[in-house]
Amino acid sequence: ASGLAEAMVARGRSFIGTAVTLRDPPDNKEAAIYSNEADFNSITPENAQKWESIEPQRNQFTFADADRHVDFAVDNGLQIHCHNLVWHSQLPDWVTNGNFDNATLISIMKNHITKLAGRYKGKCTRWDVVNEALNEDGTYREAVFYNTTGEAYLPLAFKFASEVDPNAQLYYNDYNLESGGAKAKGAQRIVQLIQSYGVKINGVGLQAHLSSEVTPTATSPAPDQATLEKTLRMFTSQGVDVAYTEIDVRMNTPPTPAKLKKQADVYESVARSCLAVKRCVGMTTWGVSDKYSWIPETFEGEGAALMWNKKYKKKPAYFGFLKGI
Ligand code: XIL
Repeated sequence: ASGLAEAMVARGRSFIGTAVTLRDPPDNKEAAIYSNEADFNSITPENAQKWESIEPQRNQFTFADADRHVDFAVDNGLQIHCHNLVWHSQLPDWVTNGNFDNATLISIMKNHITKLAGRYKGKCTRWDVVNEALNEDGTYREAVFYNTTGEAYLPLAFKFASEVDPNAQLYYNDYNLESGGAKAKGAQRIVQLIQSYGVKINGVGLQAHLSSEVTPTATSPAPDQATLEKTLRMFTSQGVDVAYTEIDVRMNTPPTPAKLKKQADVYESVARSCLAVKRCVGMTTWGVSDKYSWIPETFEGEGAALMWNKKYKKKPAYFGFLKGI
């Protein structure tokens, strides 16, 4: 196998993906990287399917940008990890501050899911149905859907999604699950809750926004391979698949050769943990080139988190990841 996806498929797993933003004007160097099908056989639209992009005003749907991303994947025979149906962030103000009563908010959520998942029916390999419902301590995040409907919004969202696109794999997706602590236990509770309603949930997505060293926003570096593996098994023991859905491994910038080596080791152990667990179906990184990573603009002084540098050159991380597959 000469690339990441080829290696992954040769190991009997499903995909290696990356988040994609189709830029305007296009960046052909970046596109050449994610269009290399030896490396990537799946994409996740980075922003194009989020609520603020899709339904910026109530019942006014704007699909043009999402369509472009889905068409790109379909034209190239790629899987699509569709992202996402219900999330408190990048949610327009009309939802967040609409003060809707429970029945109205449920109908708004149902309408959004029905129109969005309906438009791409049969094209989404997986859907992140609910994104980031949990606090770090495993309790539910106090955001509009939970505050209005309570935890029942989760099984309802999965139910609506499964009715619209019965063939899509339905995922609960969150960050900071990788260490297997209180937040991961919260995600297990969500899986159990949805199953207890008799509603379909196929997988848990572990975002894996990791770091290779202590930073102002990461109190500890990424968990080791054994811990990652154990965490994945927490979920597969519940009868669902797992995937790493948004991998990046940040550091305090600027990078040095020693830091890049450490980062490569983290990429390798993430890959090894997935390959060690049969129901770990695939892994997606949150972009390809450090030039466009969301990290520096979100976590000041941190970055260099992806497998290609700002000049589109493969970093040690790429070779570490490949070695781990
Ligand atoms: C990020 C995008 O990468 C940025 O371009 C955007 O400005 C903010 O969102 N968890 C998620 C992703 O589920 O949707 C987020 O993506 C990163 C954190």
